Amino acid sequence: MCGIVGYLGDRQAYEILIKGLKRLEYRGYDSAGVAMIRNGNFSLFKCKGKVSDLEETVGMSDHSGNIGMGHTRWATHGPPNDINAHPHLSNDGSLVLIHNGIIENYAPLKAELINRGHEFKSDTDTEVLVHFIEDIRDKTGANLFEAVRIALSEVIGAYAIVVMDKSNPQQLIAARKSSPLVIGVGKDNEFFVASDATPIIEYTRNVVYLEDEEIAKLDRTEGMKIVTISNQHKTPYIQELEMKLEAIEKGGYDSFMLKEIHEQPRSIMDSIRGRMNVGTGSVRMSGVDDHADRWRNASRILIVACGTSWHAGLVAEYLLEEFARIPVEVEYASEFRYRNPVIMPSDVVIAISQSGETADTLAAIELAKDKGAFIFGVCNVVGSSIARATHSGAYTHAGPEIGVASTKAFTAQVSVLYLLALSVAVHRGVMKGERLNRLMVEMNSIPDKIAEVLKTNDAVKAIAEQYKDSTNALYLGRGYTFPVALEGALKLKEISYIHAEGYPAAEMKHGPIALIDEAMPVFVIATHGASYEKVVSNIQEVKARKGKIISIVTEGDKIVKELSDYAIEIPKCDDSLVPLIAVVPLQLLSYHVAVMRGCNVDQPRNLAKSVTVE
Ligand code: AGP
Ligand code: GLU
Repeated sequence: MCGIVGYLGDRQAYEILIKGLKRLEYRGYDSAGVAMIRNGNFSLFKCKGKVSDLEETVGMSDHSGNIGMGHTRWATHGPPNDINAHPHLSNDGSLVLIHNGIIENYAPLKAELINRGHEFKSDTDTEVLVHFIEDIRDKTGANLFEAVRIALSEVIGAYAIVVMDKSNPQQLIAARKSSPLVIGVGKDNEFFVASDATPIIEYTRNVVYLEDEEIAKLDRTEGMKIVTISNQHKTPYIQELEMKLEAIEKGGYDSFMLKEIHEQPRSIMDSIRGRMNVGTGSVRMSGVDDHADRWRNASRILIVACGTSWHAGLVAEYLLEEFARIPVEVEYASEFRYRNPVIMPSDVVIAISQSGETADTLAAIELAKDKGAFIFGVCNVVGSSIARATHSGAYTHAGPEIGVASTKAFTAQVSVLYLLALSVAVHRGVMKGERLNRLMVEMNSIPDKIAEVLKTNDAVKAIAEQYKDSTNALYLGRGYTFPVALEGALKLKEISYIHAEGYPAAEMKHGPIALIDEAMPVFVIATHGASYEKVVSNIQEVKARKGKIISIVTEGDKIVKELSDYAIEIPKCDDSLVPLIAVVPLQLLSYHVAVMRGCNVDQPRNLAKSVTVE
């Protein structure tokens, strides 16, 4: 689930591992550990807590060695504590292993190993795997590479693993299935392994993305060899990374989340640049243009995603139905995969994911693919599993998003989906000319409008000060702003731990209205547009029950402002583009409330950036 780093070369492994683990901290975790080989023995350190706690645990102890592995754990089997932290040793202590993911059949394997005399120290499924590998090696006389292959052929589940043998400080074995793993290739058989490229880029730009069910042997003298679980040899495909180091540093901001909120004018521009030409009135989305028939003849569009990406999917539903006049259904990927959905070969499925590694979304894609649907991915991470599992797609180009709470990835997704909806509408012959041009011009102006909204930061901070001690909050929106209400509530929940709910404004009277009293802040997106008057009535309903109204309004608004305890003005734009700018003050609000409450905004408790378990 969380982070893996490995190193093999001439440098001191420990420094590289710790730095790498810090780069992976954004993924969220509860414990950390490292192991190096020194003089034929492991030096192994691990503890509950942060990487900085691990550094304290290591303290002045000897941590030298030119080979090693580091891990951040997000507990699935057994509580977060020092013993369950990775790395884990095999029964005789000759092997050490780190693992992200879940071994689903660990219980029968463990029972069998206990029968054979193995003793376990932790509650984890991971410890079972390293014992199992040792058992196979000893039983069959196979070398470690082969023993790992045989073991994995009997394992059910998801994993990214790194294994080493203390008697062979020249070799690391790495493997993956449904959990990402990248190998960095340095000079003279120097190797790096990591869950994503962020720990690697300062050493080398040459990487190999390991595919599912591939096992890599990294050896100081023999170089890299890759085999599949079914023992097919693979030629490593070395790619060059384009990511910039500055893109993953905080750049003067107090947190990654704040930096990412402020990056939105640029990340949106990067996501739309080159895809529309206002002068010629054309939208170019190669993932649509190259498969124009699939989109033209689609009887329906299904959108699958989780969390914030699901909210972007809801906005896309409104856009595609309005612009392209095609029926759209938006599904939680986790529900979709388990309810035997009706999927037709004429369906187009859009999978939205920032990380491109979300297990539920990946599984939904596989299901839809089996039924013959055409799958289009909207991902932020280049080369990610979802990007590779889809038939075609469009990257969001938001740059690495490190804060666990998604901000710039959401607006980049909505921007790309906006162009997608326009492009599909053009291909289906239901949008052209003046309207298309007007919407493109409006889309083009969004980055500047967001820059304007960011100037409300101080006003938003003052509102945060007023409501930081609330225990509940309600977010209301209608039409295009309903998904924004959901996203605003999710942001507040995630990083400030205040209970918040997003609701369609009119639905409030069917239940949540019972919660409203003078202590309840109600955040309402009440911009000028189709539902403005209706939302004004909904605000009156809240006022009548003494609720506090904090509104997001269009600049120049009078009616809602008068009814509000606080109001934030945002620039005027087409209804269909309001989600992109209305969400920004809500992101800032959550950020300030969380900081005022002393919460860790970049790494909120219990959350992981990339949810690679179902
Ligand atoms: C967003 O703030 C959340 N951390 C979470 O809901 C996230 O959007 C969800 O897990 C989906 O992730 P993905 O976009 O990487 O697939
Ligand atoms: N399932 C393993 C454990 O609970 C690994 C969790 C992870 O992905 O960090 O220890």
